Amino acid sequence: MLVIKKPEEISELTAEFKKLGHSVGFVPTMGALHAGHLSLIKQAKTNCEKCIVSIYINPTQFGPDEDLETYPRKLAKDIVLLESEEVDILFLPDNESMYPEGYNTFVTVSGLTNVLCGKSRPEHFKGVTTIVCKLLNIVQPDTAVFGEKDFQQAAVIKKMVKDLNIPVIIETGSIIREADNVAMSSRNKYLSTEERKQAVCLYKSLQTAKKIAEDSGKLADIKEAIRKIINSAPLANIDYIELVDPCTMKTAENRHGDVLAAIAVFFGKTRLIDNILLPRQSHQE
Ligand code: PAF
Repeated sequence: MLVIKKPEEISELTAEFKKLGHSVGFVPTMGALHAGHLSLIKQAKTNCEKCIVSIYINPTQFGPDEDLETYPRKLAKDIVLLESEEVDILFLPDNESMYPEGYNTFVTVSGLTNVLCGKSRPEHFKGVTTIVCKLLNIVQPDTAVFGEKDFQQAAVIKKMVKDLNIPVIIETGSIIREADNVAMSSRNKYLSTEERKQAVCLYKSLQTAKKIAEDSGKLADIKEAIRKIINSAPLANIDYIELVDPCTMKTAENRHGDVLAAIAVFFGKTRLIDNILLPRQSHQE
């Protein structure tokens, strides 16, 4: 695996791959890789001949009181994992090459970003769309793959790519879960033993939501059931529980179209997110 730090070198390598007729799949990450990231890499590799992964802890997507300084950094371990997945190139840019002195350009997607995670983390998506736009311009992949745990992030990126005519296919990969069904996240490492135990309440609440939806339950009942299960975990603090249209992120009015149940829950300072697409209600019901 080649490890490349300079943006211009990555662009040259992608151009060479494409000249040779190889398609390029790209998985942007912030490192501290786990099985969730590896499944996105596997997905990129099934559809593309060459696979590029980036590791960059993007400072602009962290708020002032967030975990930029403590975000897990595991480069040596990450490189072993990427080599075992036979990734072709690791792109490892630094802050100077991504945000040089005088850097002044940001990408914002309106509408989708002022709800859910965007409400709790006001500058977060501006940082995400800016860095993803830059990475897509540098890497110029045919396909880029994002995880469905960050469902809103994937929706925002799809909208940016469409609105800005960026020539890339955005794919999403399913949520990968631990043995007890807690969604994999680099931030799970922050949880104490007791918090980690109680974190199963997120998945449990979403499974209950699915069951109520299957039994033709009302949106209000689904939301209430989620709230009750999360509140039964003493260390959990709800940030949001929302039932939304998965494309627009607007509050769902009924269950005739797709409805995403999306939740964010604090355990101490650690904020976990999870989501599930609820089964549609038929028009006869
Ligand atoms: O999902 C992430 O890890 C990050 O938000 C991303 C997409 C790599 C941008 O920094």
